[in-house]
Amino acid sequence: MGTCCDWLSSLLPLLSSLPSHPSLQPSNTALPELAAAWRAGFFAEIHYRFEHKLPAEDIDVTHRRVLDRLLAERSVGLDAWDDEVRQRLVSGWHDQKGWPDAAPALEKLRKKFFVVVLANGTTKLQLDIAKSSGLPFHMLFSSELLGFTKPDPEIYRKALRLMGVEPQNAMMVAAHAYDLRAAKTVGFKTAYIYRSTEDVDEDMQAVQNDVDVFLDGRNGTLECGLGALANLLDAEENDLSTR
Ligand SMILES: *[C@@H]1O[C@H](CO)[C@@H](O)[C@H](O)[C@H]1NC(C)=O
Ligand SMILES: *[C@@H]1O[C@H](CO)[C@@H](O)[C@H](O)[C@H]1NC(C)=O
Repeated sequence: MGTCCDWLSSLLPLLSSLPSHPSLQPSNTALPELAAAWRAGFFAEIHYRFEHKLPAEDIDVTHRRVLDRLLAERSVGLDAWDDEVRQRLVSGWHDQKGWPDAAPALEKLRKKFFVVVLANGTTKLQLDIAKSSGLPFHMLFSSELLGFTKPDPEIYRKALRLMGVEPQNAMMVAAHAYDLRAAKTVGFKTAYIYRSTEDVDEDMQAVQNDVDVFLDGRNGTLECGLGALANLLDAEENDLSTR
């Protein structure tokens, strides 16, 4: 979510189709702002849970709680957006499209590498997003399935053990700097994909210094982001496999 999929473009049509409300007109910036605040609120909540060692929570439950809070702040009551509407929105996160570069790049990469998802969340969410996006992953590793949550180093180690891959032969690819910084401590190579929707508060200069490969994935062409990564690994294949 974010690295391979464009959650914002996936969610906006659904948001725009909902009953209009004085504080949420489809024509202004209120809906994109709501979507961004929802994503940020979700991150803040799961970060809080991790810091306080609380058990992981189903993403739908967290999304619903954050949505209720954001709508209350905007004076959108249950009379305007009722329970059914809110549940439809929460389910919207299960239905995502890939960024334009994602599918062709994964097709190319999967011929040479195991291409797997390693992400927080439930396996059900990953299955739904894999199905709606059509992205051709070999395997979906969720925090639910592996029993650890990012950025716990154990989740990265467990994924490697399950694949039978040594860390120096693995690359973590993400649009989230904290994730790459954690993977690096385990010995992964790291590739950062810069996406317009992710890491909006990160210092990108610092990120560039911390990762092995930094790729801009924002211009919407097939050559950006994951496309650039696929080309790079194609060219550097021998070099990378001996490092
Ligand atoms: C993964 O979960 C951890 C802990 O809950 C959180 O800090 C982090 O932001 C999450 N990352 C993603 C991409 O969901
Ligand atoms: C888009 O970004 C990629 C990767 O940074 C770059 O190679 C490509 O030239 C860019 N294309 C356009 C049209 O800006």
